[in-house]
Amino acid sequence: MRTLIAGNWKMHGLIAQLAEIESIAAAVAASRPPADILICPPATLIARAAQLADRRIAIGGQDCHSETAGAFTGDLSAEMLRDSGASAVILGHSERRQGHGETDVIVAAKANAARRTGLLAIICIGETQSQRGDGQTLQVCRDQITGSVPERMTAAETAIAHEPLWAIGTGHTPTAGEIADVHGHIRGILVERFGSEGKAMRILYGGSVKASNALQILAIPDVNGALIGGASLKSADFDAIIRIFAAGLAGGPLP
Ligand code: 13P
Repeated sequence: MRTLIAGNWKMHGLIAQLAEIESIAAAVAASRPPADILICPPATLIARAAQLADRRIAIGGQDCHSETAGAFTGDLSAEMLRDSGASAVILGHSERRQGHGETDVIVAAKANAARRTGLLAIICIGETQSQRGDGQTLQVCRDQITGSVPERMTAAETAIAHEPLWAIGTGHTPTAGEIADVHGHIRGILVERFGSEGKAMRILYGGSVKASNALQILAIPDVNGALIGGASLKSADFDAIIRIFAAGLAGGPLP
């Protein structure tokens, strides 16, 4: 399974920051890491970013509407993202579930739109601090996968991003053992529901991934990539993560 290292820029990035994308794309073209590299900038930058990236790295959106077109002021369809040069879309991020009231049903409808359009759907799930404290992490992940990932999704169309809410932007991460437990559980649910496709779906970890912990996290069984917020905004930080992963995989000295 090919590792996916993805950056979520959230609501960060003006035209001037396209230089970071150019720099990441150039580094990836030069080093050819054994991973798929994706940056999801704000929608305003997707077309220019895709042009600049020139297929050296993939460009994605951070959300889409479930409909193709219509009277939905302010929304963007999966078709529009695709038309702008995106090949993936993040769906059901906790910041959208919490800040925009997105339910599992809404996320599943958006995932169907991504599928219809040929965009990789990166479907986010994750528990809050209090759910974790109450021992509900595994059940929350099961419920969110059941509700947010439509039937018949394939591995080529889908990645799951497990992002514990308490780890996002906090500098805190679960222990390697905790990540292994949750990702193993997610794998079990995916195989239960999707059989061999579920076995091949990538499960990303997200939440305070940075150069200092990326190798340890990416080496955990059933961690097939990372969804990175803050450390994806600067090419120096993001490139370091890619380099460390590539060197660690090759068993060589870390840069
Ligand atoms: P940070 O890497 O900044 O913790 O953000 C994680 C995230 O929300 C990615 O989608």
